[in-house]
Amino acid sequence: MNVSLPPMGWNSWNTFGGNISDQLIVETARAMKEQGYLDKGYNYIVIDDTWSLHERDEEGRLVPDPAKFPRGMKALSDDVHALGFRFGMYSCAGVQTCGGYPSSFDHEFVDAQTFADWGVDYLKYDFCNFPRSANGKNRYAMMSMALKATGRPILFAACNWGSDEPWQWMKSIGAHMYRSTGDIQDNFKSFSDIARSQLDHFSMSGPYCFNDMDMLTVGMFGKGNVALGKACTVAEYETQFALWCMLGAPLMLGGDVRSMDDACRALLQNDKLLRINQDRECRPPMPVYRGRVLNTEYDPETGSWWREYPDSGLTLFRHLSDGEFAVAYFNFAPKSGEIPFIFADAGLPYMSGVGLRFTDALTGEDLGVQRDYCNFTVESHGCRVFLARLEKI
Ligand code: GLA
Repeated sequence: MNVSLPPMGWNSWNTFGGNISDQLIVETARAMKEQGYLDKGYNYIVIDDTWSLHERDEEGRLVPDPAKFPRGMKALSDDVHALGFRFGMYSCAGVQTCGGYPSSFDHEFVDAQTFADWGVDYLKYDFCNFPRSANGKNRYAMMSMALKATGRPILFAACNWGSDEPWQWMKSIGAHMYRSTGDIQDNFKSFSDIARSQLDHFSMSGPYCFNDMDMLTVGMFGKGNVALGKACTVAEYETQFALWCMLGAPLMLGGDVRSMDDACRALLQNDKLLRINQDRECRPPMPVYRGRVLNTEYDPETGSWWREYPDSGLTLFRHLSDGEFAVAYFNFAPKSGEIPFIFADAGLPYMSGVGLRFTDALTGEDLGVQRDYCNFTVESHGCRVFLARLEKI
């Protein structure tokens, strides 16, 4: 197991919730392979909550629900492996999972062994129904150790929703990724708030332990388990995916890959965005602009041509390997507006005699060499993302 880059894959929860089955997992794995996701690096297939019966067996082991998983987990895991994927499952540090199924509190070592016996390569470990008198950090440390004690390499995906500042300690207890926020929903406010809440924590995310901002909702368009509102636009999904890529967060798909909209599939497989996410240096971006979006429309309320939306503009600048950079402009405001980037904020003043050649990550367009500053008018809830290289002027 090599977790030196942000893990990538698919998880059942966002779209399917409790509606999971052997058939769904096999169909998903096949679709991921046939439609090119596996080749792009999405190699974990993860079954989330609600997979088990409500009672353990006589030996105290978890039992897959035979109505959903009639072949049991080992046969399914073998099929997933045969298709070229790694197999992920779910449990919880509390006394019951969030869905009310048996969970691993005081069963850590037997459950870890059960997962290892089933050929599990990834364990998502949730935090519902956790006893108040118990110690969360210690219980995550315990499951981390229980997984290691099996002798099977298993990626430990801790999911305590940001409790006790996990960016401070999850790496030290052996977790490979940790959920840093509450659950994502398929709407713009939910996912943009999640990303903005984590901007200052990504300096502590990196090889072997990544800040996990939750599964993506790209392509759900308002349908499925975490879709509570109206459908997002493709531009909003571009913003979601660009945020996850710029920050270097794990990319766990949450949509139905069997019927993914073409534009969303192209987005999730965009080579330039994936190159940014998977850059081997795993550096966090610098927020070179965090402030108002300027709207150039005349606003009769204020009698002004410049209306401000505080904290709605964000420009991220990221150092990549091999002399490359990534730049992304985000507009969280309800209107289109201009987002600035003064190159001196990234350490590149006018007197350097050096500019940045911008290539649009979404369209591939070469915008030529920019010098000193480069502002963009960005549509409401949209983004512009570029790869950039230094060039003498
Ligand atoms: C919690 C987690 C979700 C999902 C559900 C399952 O809410 O944060 O990602 O796993 O539990 O019940």
